[in-house]
Amino acid sequence: MKKIIAFNWKSNPVTVKAAIKLAKTVENAIPQKKYSEVVIAPPFVFLEDVGKAIKKAKLGSQDIFWKNNGPYTGEISWHQEKNLKVKYAIVGHSERRQILGETDGMINKKVLAALKSGLKVILCIGENLTIRKRGKKAVENFIKSQLQKDLKNIENCKLKIENLIIAYEPIWAIGSKHPDTPKDAVEMINFIKKVVSGKYKVESVKTLYGGSVNGKNIKNFLKYKEIGGFLVGGASLKPKEIKNIIQNTK
Ligand code: 13P
Repeated sequence: MKKIIAFNWKSNPVTVKAAIKLAKTVENAIPQKKYSEVVIAPPFVFLEDVGKAIKKAKLGSQDIFWKNNGPYTGEISWHQEKNLKVKYAIVGHSERRQILGETDGMINKKVLAALKSGLKVILCIGENLTIRKRGKKAVENFIKSQLQKDLKNIENCKLKIENLIIAYEPIWAIGSKHPDTPKDAVEMINFIKKVVSGKYKVESVKTLYGGSVNGKNIKNFLKYKEIGGFLVGGASLKPKEIKNIIQNTK
């Protein structure tokens, strides 16, 4: 199955010119004979220009609002995103949960709106260090509870399972230069697949790993077929890393 490499630029870069340049670096690194799906999720302000600069890569957003349009100051609706040719929406990133106070209830509304509108959702889940230190059972309980709250009622969306992607991003591994071990990440990914398939009777949900992935350590994760791809932050801003990540992901 095709792997997904999703580049989450977060709040970078600063100018539209730099965003187009970075998008072209990604585009040029994708081989003609494409073997993985490359997604670029720039800040909202660059969506339109990045969308025009790419052909092989797909456009993603870093968030989505659940209403169509109307009096919602500062929010960008799923409808507006679709009109900009966005195909993937990242939802529930831990930075939004922690810094902006996004709740599982809000994330659930976003997941439902995105799925109903036909966007592919990349739902981010993952535990913090305190939970991790309590051991595997504590992590599993936390992950299960996030999945149950964030995916509540998705059975009403006529779910196409290929439209739901889960990204396991342990918070302590994000931007820390200390990724999870591939073995532990795979264990958690298998657990996520089990929870989702048990509840929704789907064979398998594509599950990505995120947290300090770079062009070098990605090879260790690629040994495990259970990992459906990667959600990459810091390394997605560096041309050399971008090339290595794309070229190493077959
Ligand atoms: P880093 O790759 O910088 O650890 O960020 C991961 C992430 O948060 C992607 O969404």
